[in-house]
Amino acid sequence: MKVLVVGNGGREHALAWKLLQSKQIEQVVCAPGNGGTAGIKGCQNLPLAVDDFEGISQFAQNEGISLVVVGPEVPLAKGITDYLNSKGLKVFGPTRAGAQIEASKAWAKALMQEAGIPTAQAAVFTEAAAAKSYVKAQGAPIVVKADGLAAGKGVIVAETVEQAQAAIDAMFGGEFGSAGKFVVIEECLIGEEVSVLALTDGLTIRPLQPAQDHKRIGEGDTGENTGGMGAYAPAPIATKEVMARIQKEVLEKAIAALKAKGIDYRGVLYAGLMMTPQGDFKVLEFNCRFGDPETQVVLPLLETPLEELILACVEQRLAEMPPIAWKQGAAVTVVAASGGYPGAYEKGKVITGIEQAEALGTTVFHAGTNLNQEQLLTDGGRVLNVTAAGETFDQALAQAYAGIQCIHFEGMYYRRDIGHRVR
Ligand code: AMP
Ligand code: GLY
Repeated sequence: MKVLVVGNGGREHALAWKLLQSKQIEQVVCAPGNGGTAGIKGCQNLPLAVDDFEGISQFAQNEGISLVVVGPEVPLAKGITDYLNSKGLKVFGPTRAGAQIEASKAWAKALMQEAGIPTAQAAVFTEAAAAKSYVKAQGAPIVVKADGLAAGKGVIVAETVEQAQAAIDAMFGGEFGSAGKFVVIEECLIGEEVSVLALTDGLTIRPLQPAQDHKRIGEGDTGENTGGMGAYAPAPIATKEVMARIQKEVLEKAIAALKAKGIDYRGVLYAGLMMTPQGDFKVLEFNCRFGDPETQVVLPLLETPLEELILACVEQRLAEMPPIAWKQGAAVTVVAASGGYPGAYEKGKVITGIEQAEALGTTVFHAGTNLNQEQLLTDGGRVLNVTAAGETFDQALAQAYAGIQCIHFEGMYYRRDIGHRVR
């Protein structure tokens, strides 16, 4: 089988790596891929943008691709699945209608409210004055969200009413482009976050191991939000009992609500939840795709061949699959980032030490790299995900940190406290 993976981050590197562990997979093509996917045996990069639907479709048809796995939300929200399905290709990832669950926070909130899924109280606004007076009446802390996709930057957790009002002005002022045409204002929830990625064929939904990521740039979970500075799975806070409740109260309700809207959702439904100190939970957001970097810690633990699960979703026979099998133990990933990220940073720095890190037993997924005449260079804010799986969380953590210490590029930054909540 030949599989095409759409995307160029650490998530897509991990997907390609996992798929190629199966004997069924002869080749993986990544569009556009990165310096890491270029280096895996059996994997080839295809220099096409993730929204070049025509180019991707032509390649897939000409080269006998049996399955397209879409990594990022942007092509899903633009309708890559609808387009490729119309050309007779099999795609893992929801249609444009389904991707609204991530691409419009107002739409997702309405779906949660209709389905009775626990979530923060919220109101949706189309102009600044009403939004500001709502914030004034509610008080702070309060959360202001741009409705549309904003590369993870469209959420402001405001500590004061003034901050919230400034965020409202920025959003309606066009700072987030069309993402800010609607603004969702919601109750600020306190607690610990957990990411539950679930596989679905539109009828049945099965969660993967719960994960936690560290979104903030600074140690102690301080400073600016990022795409994620590290992650681990399983997340001990999501016990078996909690996962059983999430299945019934969130995942099954969401799939039923999508189906009731006539949406045939086949792909990943990712629920980002806030766990309250009382052991309850509320949904913060849904994503229509695998999490990044959560995927990099969930897939190393997966024992069932990934392509079997993905095909069962695409062919709508997930209910017939045996329970998903997992390796014992835990996985941890630590992100090596460019100095300055999530603000301005430089690219093109020479990366060394990956072989040494891998000799210690880690797997280094590339998030933002490229190969330039055999030389590996930094090419993004998040550069590498140094990942280790072990029989215990402590072993995995120690190995990931031993690995990252082998790696060097000018300005490299990483957090030293990934996993601190587990202790
Ligand atoms: P979202 O893209 O909606 O998940 O928001 C990104 C991040 O903002 C989440 O992972 C949380 O850290 C934070 N966040 C979102 N909604 C809330 C909320 N209602 N209360 C507190 N924090 C939130
Ligand atoms: N790690 C957060 C996300 O993938 O949205």
